[in-house]
Amino acid sequence: MKNILVILGGGRPHGNTRQLAESFMQGAREAGHSVRLVSLNQTQVNGCLGCIACRFGKPCVQKDDFMSIVPAIQEADLLVLASPLYFWTLSAKLKAFIERFYCLAEPDDAPPLGRYEKYPQKDCALLMTAADEYFWTFEQAVSYYRFTLIRYIGFRDKGMLLAGGCGDTNGKPQIHTTKHLDDAYRFGKNIYREEDEGCMI
Ligand SMILES: Cc1cc2nc3c(=O)[nH]c(=O)nc-3n(C[C@H](O)[C@H](O)[C@H](O)COP(=O)(O)O)c2cc1C
Repeated sequence: MKNILVILGGGRPHGNTRQLAESFMQGAREAGHSVRLVSLNQTQVNGCLGCIACRFGKPCVQKDDFMSIVPAIQEADLLVLASPLYFWTLSAKLKAFIERFYCLAEPDDAPPLGRYEKYPQKDCALLMTAADEYFWTFEQAVSYYRFTLIRYIGFRDKGMLLAGGCGDTNGKPQIHTTKHLDDAYRFGKNIYREEDEGCMI
């Protein structure tokens, strides 16, 4: 059994992204995992100020909710980032959350080329929704996920579910008319069963 933390990076309260995350969570729970969701709509996490206090052994100077989420991050085996596609990338809320990982880093005497510190070892997955579904719709978001979370921070990629064609936010959520909720359920259910099946793009 794994400890799974889903970070919901915005979107409408009962929107496509929330529904996608809930389906994933249902599958994961049925597979026996412990699952918790933190919504960045209900939790205030600001972007990093770059003050570097954390690099001198001090706690983060910001008095928002990030530090209250840190124990859940540390306990998690798997971090699942769920976001609507905003201007072709992850939501600003989710990016602000990731910036704050700066204070989770520790010194590394022998970092790999291009990295300067070490981060907690975690598995990671990405869930996204979008209005469009062109072949390039998620290109920027996937690039950010792969470069920042996997290559730089060093998390182990457990896959992505990129749910295009969910309708724009001028209308009601349309994800129930697609196959994405079923896919998310199966993704959650099998995420530690099908170790080698790779990404679900
Ligand atoms: C500020 C904003 C920017 C958006 N940018 C894009 C975009 O670049 N490409 C796209 O396909 N959809 C875009 N959308 C549509 C949403 O990604 C899509 O409707 C998503 O499923 C909404 O998620 P929600 O129902 O969880 O709120 C945007 C929506 C908003 C509100």
